[in-house]
Amino acid sequence: MTNWYEIFYNLVLGGELVAKIERLHELYGPVVRIGPNKLHFNDRRAYHDIYSNGNTLVKEPRLYRGILIHAPESSVALSDVQQSKNRRTLLAPSFSRQAVMKLEYTIQEKVDQLVALLEQYYRSQESGVLPSVAYRSLTTDVITEYCFANSANTLSYPNFAHPIAQEPANAIKRVWIQAYFPFVIPLLASIPQEFILWLFPRFRTFVDVKARYEQQIDNFMKNPEDLTTAEHETIYHHLLLPKDPELRPSRTSLIHEAFLLVSAGSDTVAQACTIGTYFALQDHSIRSRLTEELKEAWPDKDKPLSFTVLEKLPYLTAFIKEALRMAIGSIHPLPRVVGDETPEIYGLNLPPGTIVAMSQYFMHMNPEVFNSPHTFNPDRWLVENTSEMMGDLVPFSKGPRQCLGIKYGNAFYLKFLFYLSVQSSMERTLLDPWKYLSKTRFIARR
Ligand code: HEM
Repeated sequence: MTNWYEIFYNLVLGGELVAKIERLHELYGPVVRIGPNKLHFNDRRAYHDIYSNGNTLVKEPRLYRGILIHAPESSVALSDVQQSKNRRTLLAPSFSRQAVMKLEYTIQEKVDQLVALLEQYYRSQESGVLPSVAYRSLTTDVITEYCFANSANTLSYPNFAHPIAQEPANAIKRVWIQAYFPFVIPLLASIPQEFILWLFPRFRTFVDVKARYEQQIDNFMKNPEDLTTAEHETIYHHLLLPKDPELRPSRTSLIHEAFLLVSAGSDTVAQACTIGTYFALQDHSIRSRLTEELKEAWPDKDKPLSFTVLEKLPYLTAFIKEALRMAIGSIHPLPRVVGDETPEIYGLNLPPGTIVAMSQYFMHMNPEVFNSPHTFNPDRWLVENTSEMMGDLVPFSKGPRQCLGIKYGNAFYLKFLFYLSVQSSMERTLLDPWKYLSKTRFIARR
């Protein structure tokens, strides 16, 4: 009858909606009405119908605009099909396999830096760090270097607690208020900034980060020739100089995109890495198989291993797939709106305007496809035919709005796991990986 139901579970109980939906599916079957106009499904056919099926379903604007209130003109927030296509066309070259391989060294350098810092300063239990915090710092430095050729350099900050690196995680805490009470933000924006900063000093990080992006974007817009002297290719090489000048995003849109890419490329990757670390450290036999394979593949320790060699290592690749399965991606259902042309979903002919969704959690924990789904088992990927599992492994979502950073995410993961796994001191260095991973609380409880 009301959206307050959803608000209660997400806001008051802190992200418990998916756990509640799971119980509802156990009671009522694969289709459950979770709001006045909203259906949630728990069936793989429904997932493919909703997310893989062309552009007849669009992103539900209310939730996306709420969550991305600071970046409504960014790629993730755009619900208009054509606008989204245009933006994806401009961003795709920056995240293609070729581009990732060209900028592989930016990932390598920062992973090396983190490993060296952990070895030097954080070796004992007393000086250990939370992996989620250290990895956010790492992923922030890499993505800012990769996208802007201007790293935020947060890694050398004591305990990796640089506010810029931790900002996406803090922003996540505000997400439900923004999504359900969007009027709060324009209200705050109408109050003088200095007063807001006095009231909420943490907001200073957001203001500083915004100023940083604005400065770089203004500089490139005023002096496009500076792009040719940038240390390496950046997203602005494609966004500011598109083949079709009509597609060039506005200044506001560029700022929004910068915010989006940094949060899309830092917290997600850090979370997946934390979960990978947890499972690598938890089971000795998994860890030693991983380490043995990696040591064998790396005869010359002074020469870094390339992405193309790493991606061929069977156990590492299986481990990464399994870690991505457990990390889920986005655990919250990603809502889509049924259009006039939308074909049947799960055999149902739904009226236009109906909001439909299925959390990736239900795909990854489906016992019909993933045997004993709550067990971390890389060996499940080492059988001859994995096509059904691959089709249902959807950490990056599917279809026209699937993640643009898949190649980057995978390359990062390979590099990262490789170098961390061969470091024998990690067990002592990294404290409880689950701590501060609110999104995974739900799975961790099992
Ligand atoms: C393990 C790491 C990652 C995971 C699990 C992940 C997951 C996802 C998911 C589930 C979506 C769909 C969101 C939706 O439908 O609303 C998405 C979209 C997106 N991701 Fe990622 N992502 C990861 C890394 C990255 C990286 C490194 C980047 C690049 C900086 C990136 C950029 C994007 C963009 C631009 C979109 C929006 C696509 C669109 O709406 O058209 N992601 N990601």
